[in-house]
Amino acid sequence: MPLLNILQFPDPRLKLKAETVTTIDTEIMTLVDNMFETMYEAVGVGLAATQVNIQKRIITIDVSEDRRHPLCLINPEILVRKGSLIWEEGCLSFPGVYAKVNRASEIEISYLDNNGEQHLLKADGLLCVCIQHEIDHLDGITFYDHLSPLKQQLMRKKLEKNRRRAL
Ligand code: NI
Repeated sequence: MPLLNILQFPDPRLKLKAETVTTIDTEIMTLVDNMFETMYEAVGVGLAATQVNIQKRIITIDVSEDRRHPLCLINPEILVRKGSLIWEEGCLSFPGVYAKVNRASEIEISYLDNNGEQHLLKADGLLCVCIQHEIDHLDGITFYDHLSPLKQQLMRKKLEKNRRRAL
């Protein structure tokens, strides 16, 4: 299966909003497989379809230590948000930089799996943070958008430095 190209900040396509998936056909199932492969290869815990330039409401996640617990969320909706927590987040579209973001500490979501079955899920900890981060991507929002102007500037400088080093 082919690896997908992950858009890198500040690619303007990261700001595009994803549309609801209406039919889970073979095209969507192939996309989900390719997203998982791309996410595992990049050693990420989550990937949103918008990060691979597909504007559909699809997320792949695996927050397990053994990397063998794939979770596919199609059309995820946050039904309940409780509390708050600050977590240091990273993002495959921002390689090598991390930032603390304030999120709800507990959420309850509904979603479809890749067989089209509806589920409810309660999440806390890393999974809860990851789901909120990825749903943001589907709405064209990145963790950068949650930062103060000063922290945004620092992040841009760090990314430029990392890029120069990688050349
Ligand atoms: Ni991300």
